[in-house]
Amino acid sequence: MVMVMKDKGPSLDWAGVDPTVPNSARMYVYFLGGKDYFPADVAAARKVQELQPLIKYNSRENRYFLRRAVTYLTNEAGVRQFLDIGAGLPTQGNVHEIAPEARVVYVDNDPKVIVHARALMADHDGGRVRVVQGDARDPEAILDDPQVTGFLDFDQPIGLLMVGLLHFVPDRNGAHEAVEAFRRPLASGSYLVISHGTQEGFDRQMVADVNQVYEQAMPYQMRTREQIARFFAGLDMIEPGLVTVTDWRPDGITTGVAGAGRGVLAGVGRVP
Ligand SMILES: C[S@@+](CC[C@H](N)C(=O)[O-])C[C@H]1O[C@@H](n2cnc3c(N)ncnc32)[C@H](O)[C@@H]1O
Repeated sequence: MVMVMKDKGPSLDWAGVDPTVPNSARMYVYFLGGKDYFPADVAAARKVQELQPLIKYNSRENRYFLRRAVTYLTNEAGVRQFLDIGAGLPTQGNVHEIAPEARVVYVDNDPKVIVHARALMADHDGGRVRVVQGDARDPEAILDDPQVTGFLDFDQPIGLLMVGLLHFVPDRNGAHEAVEAFRRPLASGSYLVISHGTQEGFDRQMVADVNQVYEQAMPYQMRTREQIARFFAGLDMIEPGLVTVTDWRPDGITTGVAGAGRGVLAGVGRVP
């Protein structure tokens, strides 16, 4: 795996990566306890942590949700293909590992995630994984990419994963139009999986302060439950619906920290 030493700066010259600007993918790695980030990411992540002390547990609970949702789709819904937008790719527990017989396309707009993903896949992929650099705000470019169209069969069900992604796509950047565009080519029996930061239950000032830390570096918008539910409009929600991430079909594997996951809503909807 390609690593960046946190105190010494980058060990590689990352085309397109500005180490002085915090980045959501690398802040997430910090929250998950990884090592692959820059000092600017740590500084921003710590500011968020001061405002939301449970954020690192939220990140772990989010990964547990991803595992449960993909396991549900493979074991109970028979899905054999995944399009993972904003994949992030921490070092383990990724979709191709959770669903070892499925085809998986990982998409992210962060060049560093892409380099990391390609390095990871060189050892593991077995021909059933593709890695595409793309921006969720430009769904047509992703959906027209031969790595996607030539690899996934859109006549068969696909699991469209937007896990921990959409709070980085504000309404002003066309979030709803983008989700609609990704949903449009999906066959009946496909699924949309979302987890999303929410302002539900939080003090308004805290929400504004967290927004400010993120927005200094990247587009960001926490949403209400109603706003998140809109992404699923027209889909059949799988039980238990849109719930706190820890409450989506819990299987006993959890951080065990009281209140962890509060602030993240998650759901799975089926294309009728
Ligand atoms: C919090 S991480 C989530 C990673 C993974 N999906 C998970 O839930 O564990 C968010 C990821 O979304 C990516 N991202 C943010 N904005 C994006 C955009 N507009 N298009 C594609 N990826 C984006 C970031 O680079 C980062 O890797």
